[in-house]
Amino acid sequence: MSVHSSTPSERITVPKLVSKKAARERIVALTAYDTPTAALLDESGVDLILVGDSLGMVVLGEATTLPVTLDVMIHHARAVSRGAQRSLLVGDLPFLSYHTTPSRAVKNAGRFIQEGGMQAVKLEGGKKRLPMVRAILDAEIPVLGHLGLTPQSVHALGGFKVQAKSEKEAERLIADAVALEAEGAFAIVLECVPGDVASRVTREIGIPTIGIGAGVGCDGQILVFHDALGWDTGHRRPRFVRRFAELRAEAKRGVEAYAAAVKDGSFPAAEESFGPAADLVRAGSKSEKKS
Ligand code: KIV
Repeated sequence: MSVHSSTPSERITVPKLVSKKAARERIVALTAYDTPTAALLDESGVDLILVGDSLGMVVLGEATTLPVTLDVMIHHARAVSRGAQRSLLVGDLPFLSYHTTPSRAVKNAGRFIQEGGMQAVKLEGGKKRLPMVRAILDAEIPVLGHLGLTPQSVHALGGFKVQAKSEKEAERLIADAVALEAEGAFAIVLECVPGDVASRVTREIGIPTIGIGAGVGCDGQILVFHDALGWDTGHRRPRFVRRFAELRAEAKRGVEAYAAAVKDGSFPAAEESFGPAADLVRAGSKSEKKS
């Protein structure tokens, strides 16, 4: 049974998403990791839902995305796919799932499609990853690139830092983006790069750029759901995050109200309880006679 009623024909496909760049329609993307959140995003008109490996940090309490395994990603991807009918669904290939051989990368990307119900995969890196991108595309699986701050390289980069600050690094980033487009990636996430560099990339390539901490010049924007909606543990949030709601504060009010109602005996009320038992027995025997 579907969570809501939109038909599969309304689905945002990869070609539909790509065409938004020429139409100058900004792409709206967010992450999700479970069914109710996916249903909410889908109903709210989000174009692309990423089941990001950020789930390691915002859902599982890890310090980086590196401990996240493919099995965990598939588990969450399946949950997301049950909630979304319309948004384009992208599964994030986790650390080491595409770094070794092209055939392993295809096998792992294929699991997102066959088991996770995704329509595409995302992977981090530029020219270095082209053999894997090519192999995955040869298996007819669309690929979303990811350049700039690539969190799976956190140790190599020396932390979660803004990338492509020098002209040399900016040129390398642009060359990586051009190479990903030439290989067949359908769009590229640009994370934590100066706005002017992201705008240059956006102008240089024909596929959409989706920014996170990359300024307003990208073809679309993505944020981590928990950061954008205030559903977190109160950790320091990056400068590029804007809070669009305060879910934790609202949920805390609810939990405290529940605790108070339990303690003072006002919950559950009569209408939230069953009984008296004799009435239930009589009601049960009447309905048995009718049927
Ligand atoms: O894992 C993730 O959520 C991501 C986004 C930050 C783009 O890669």
